[in-house]
Amino acid sequence: MQQLPLENTRAIVTGASSGIGEGIARAFAAAGASLIVNFRSDEEAADRIVGEIRKNGGRAEAVQADISTPEGCGTLFEAADEQFGGVDILVSNAGIQRDATFTELSLEDWRQVLDVNLTGQFLCAQEAVRRFRRQGLDPERSPALGKIIFTSSVHQAIPWAGHANYATAKGGVKLLMETMAQELACEKIRVNAIAPGAIKTAINRDAWEDEEARKELLKLIPYGRVGETEDVAEAAVWLASDASDYVVGTTLFVDGGMMLYPAFREGG
Ligand code: BGC
Repeated sequence: MQQLPLENTRAIVTGASSGIGEGIARAFAAAGASLIVNFRSDEEAADRIVGEIRKNGGRAEAVQADISTPEGCGTLFEAADEQFGGVDILVSNAGIQRDATFTELSLEDWRQVLDVNLTGQFLCAQEAVRRFRRQGLDPERSPALGKIIFTSSVHQAIPWAGHANYATAKGGVKLLMETMAQELACEKIRVNAIAPGAIKTAINRDAWEDEEARKELLKLIPYGRVGETEDVAEAAVWLASDASDYVVGTTLFVDGGMMLYPAFREGG
């Protein structure tokens, strides 16, 4: 029987009680990974997702933690140790938006977005690297000591009026990811990022739910459809698996071509 892509692996997915994180958790479970399903506030949703994964024969545990603090990140890795005896993959996914025009953007909303979307990713990644080192390389398990996947955005590259905090955080994630990859590849730690475009989740409901807004949004997407969480989740499975063993320090855009300056189809 052919092995599943993530069989015998243990993963932490942050922000997994909804949206892209939920999609990744479900796809990882289907691909054979044992999972820590992190949530911050929606326990009911996390429990439901874990329940469904278990019903399908998977292994998962819902764990509450605020990943913008070192203690919160520590809790997740402790849980992975207790439940599964360690961790092989971190999907650092938790993220928020607090949108405002530049002069209306409050210091609180600036800090909160930077705390969750950038500092939180740094803290969880730092903890992951320490744990990977302590566990040591097991070539029977994987050619990599460990894998970290950051969730970035097309806005790591595309400036976004009205979202200075969010775009700044994602721009930071890009160089955090690349710097870590450069520093840690010699230890066989693979660090990469996925940069989604417009994916149908609660975070951007205003942009796709109503017909008129969706028409405007589609002008930015050459491939002609809004993305689904599964589009991102399938990419994450590959990036976390040993099938992508030589992929190091890369941002994988999953965006229906949003990065291709679609406005230039008619202009320029
Ligand atoms: C944002 C979404 C947005 C998408 C494309 C994502 O990073 O979270 O709200 O629709 O980028 O602009």
